[in-house]
Amino acid sequence: MSENLWDDVDEYFVSLFLPSDSALEETLDRSAAAGLPPISVAPNQGKLLELLAKMQGSRRILEIGTLGGYSTISLVRALPSDGSLVTLELESLHAEVARENIDRAGLGLLVDIRVGPATKLLQDLIDEDAAPFDFIFIDADKEGYPKYLELSLQLSRPGTVIVADNVVRDGEVADSTSTDERVQGVRAFLEMAAADDRIEGTAIQTVGSKGYDGFALLVVSR
Ligand code: SAH
Ligand code: DHB
Ligand code: MG
Repeated sequence: MSENLWDDVDEYFVSLFLPSDSALEETLDRSAAAGLPPISVAPNQGKLLELLAKMQGSRRILEIGTLGGYSTISLVRALPSDGSLVTLELESLHAEVARENIDRAGLGLLVDIRVGPATKLLQDLIDEDAAPFDFIFIDADKEGYPKYLELSLQLSRPGTVIVADNVVRDGEVADSTSTDERVQGVRAFLEMAAADDRIEGTAIQTVGSKGYDGFALLVVSR
């Protein structure tokens, strides 16, 4: 089975469910033109995030890792008009490109982009006594995932959904001897989630235009 076939199937699905989405297409074009890496979620994955947040009735969303705002736009579309999304990004260039993309999509009023290391920005939210988030999408540096989970739990309530991207990485996640710190970060994250009796979760492998990867899906139960 070839990656070409995965691409063909993704293209077919996208032609059905996301035939023309100028806000998202422009976001990708403008992110590429600004030199950002092409590592946002695939279109049908962005739609999955939107649907998950909608199914959950999310009103407050937290995203860790903004890039050019592609997944941000997907997620913010799940919100009611009085909802809000906070997204955390280390690179000020990425944050600027995302700000433009989100504003051009007409969603700027709902989105707070904070710039800095996610660990610090999450601690700031905790220190500010931020209201708990309904939905949290973890997608920044993979080494940071264990810490992001620990801090995300402090910004959660029973019922908060936590989704994490890139937990498979071409299958390397199953290699306990991997010397890749990103793989070890994801493994520590998954093991923490699995061992925590406040969390119910699973992980799912995906193939498609973004290759072979996967998502972890967690619900905070208490
Ligand atoms: N969620 C985006 C993709 C995010 S790519 C989408 O699907 O559209 C990962 C992002 O995390 C990059 O923009 C990178 O700059 C950012 N990042 C990396 N390390 C970080 C850190 N320590 N704190 C916050 N953001 C970080
Ligand atoms: C990569 C992919 C991602 O989706 C991400 O969030 C970070 C990095 C990558 O392919 O390197
Ligand atoms: Mg990702």
